[in-house]
Amino acid sequence: MYLDMKDIKKFYGQGESRMMVLKGIQCSIEKGEICVLLGPSGSGKSTLLNLIGGIEEIDEGNLFVGQQDLTVMSSKELGHYRRKTLGFIFQSYHLVPNLTVKENIESGAYLSSSPIDVQELLQKLGLEEHKNKYPNQLSGGQQQRTAIGRALAKNPSLLLCDEPTGALDYYTSKDILQLLERMHQDYGTTILIVTHNDAIAKMAHRVIYLKDGQIIDIQVNPHPMAAKDIEW
Ligand SMILES: Nc1ncnc2c1ncn2[C@@H]1O[C@H](COP(=O)(O)OP(=O)(O)O)[C@@H](O)[C@H]1O
Ligand SMILES: [Mg+2]
Repeated sequence: MYLDMKDIKKFYGQGESRMMVLKGIQCSIEKGEICVLLGPSGSGKSTLLNLIGGIEEIDEGNLFVGQQDLTVMSSKELGHYRRKTLGFIFQSYHLVPNLTVKENIESGAYLSSSPIDVQELLQKLGLEEHKNKYPNQLSGGQQQRTAIGRALAKNPSLLLCDEPTGALDYYTSKDILQLLERMHQDYGTTILIVTHNDAIAKMAHRVIYLKDGQIIDIQVNPHPMAAKDIEW
């Protein structure tokens, strides 16, 4: 067991408007899995991802990543965890505008003691010919590839993706999913993908269904579909 969540609760707001948005999340994910977290808008997917990512504080429960319990870490330890263990990919790419594609990806590699070769990544991501361009010279798909490259460059053991295809058209989305699949095959990265697109769940070893801050179902699939065969 790699990721282990024990009765996690998260609240937003103060006093009268205090609201429980995660209502006791209990589940685990094995190392090397592709896991999809599926649920309608507002169900708490991003909140849960941000807790796993150490970006927001866990109010109740425990969250283990490997042997580490995030809920007892100091902010310094959390920073170290984020730098060393995690790759994070957002729906809106968050690239540094005045760095080129190559430099954006390198900025991920610098964080790691065992980075993936940036040249190799540029090739795998199909960005070799664009490596000297700036983000505003790229299509949405190319920007997302660059963001994936930056997240992967440090060779993270856990890759968190929040709606990674949310801003992309159908064909570019499939392209990005195939890329994630290939990175999983090549580097054995554990990948957690948040989405509201239930077709994407077909490429997962484990699907966690979230609704209204609670897990309503978990499905395990030892033989997921190839990303290229998924249609929606
Ligand atoms: N920073 C915040 N402050 C207050 N409420 C929030 C905040 N972030 C999210 N919420 C609320 O928490 C619930 C879950 O949100 P979110 O995790 O973003 O859902 P999802 O990613 O599944 O669309 C929603 O009701 C949302 O309005
Ligand atoms: Mg969200």
